[in-house]
Amino acid sequence: MAHSAETWVAQPLPRPLTTNDLQACAALDRLALGGLWNETQWQRELAEPDRPCLGLGAGPTLVAIAAGWVIFDELHISLVAVDPSEQRRGLGRRVLEALLLKGQAMGCSRATLEVAVGNGAALALYGTLGFCTQGRRRCYYRSGEDALIQWLSLEARD
Ligand SMILES: CC(C)(COP(=O)(O)OP(=O)(O)OC[C@H]1O[C@@H](n2cnc3c(N)ncnc32)[C@H](O)[C@@H]1OP(=O)(O)O)[C@@H](O)C(=O)NCCC(=O)NCCS
Repeated sequence: MAHSAETWVAQPLPRPLTTNDLQACAALDRLALGGLWNETQWQRELAEPDRPCLGLGAGPTLVAIAAGWVIFDELHISLVAVDPSEQRRGLGRRVLEALLLKGQAMGCSRATLEVAVGNGAALALYGTLGFCTQGRRRCYYRSGEDALIQWLSLEARD
């Protein structure tokens, strides 16, 4: 699934994903995260109006996805993934920033996520956006790794 960087110039903004994108979402999820959600779970994520899901890609193919759940005034970020062959080109940041804006537009005043302590790439990305660690869940993942709980205020963002 290799693309040239020029591909994204034609489509600079992440777009809302729908159930029509189910196959592409599941494919990218398998590629980048080893299949966090099955197709039934993806169907629900893409169908529920309080679960914003944005993606970047050319045609039906997706190279970046960010998804979340709006719970009262909180955006709970549930998934961020970029095609391994397209990582470190700013796509993760672009799609996550778009999700934060979407959350703001849906009335959220803060955003939260969980990230494995050893996931340096994700921690670095979230750090550039201003996320701060405010808690830790011990042995949260199947591997036994701890999760850090991070939060970001959306109120001061432009
Ligand atoms: C985490 C992930 C989404 C980052 O996406 P990405 O498109 O590669 O990230 P970006 O190019 O937008 O990076 C933005 C900034 O984050 C930081 N960053 C991202 N990846 C990094 C890495 N591997 N090492 C160090 N810093 C990194 C850098 O500050 C980077 O800015 P720079 O390239 O100008 O230095 C991607 O690595 C991924 O899909 N990983 C597998 C799935 C996953 O772990 N998801 C998160 C679960 S919590």
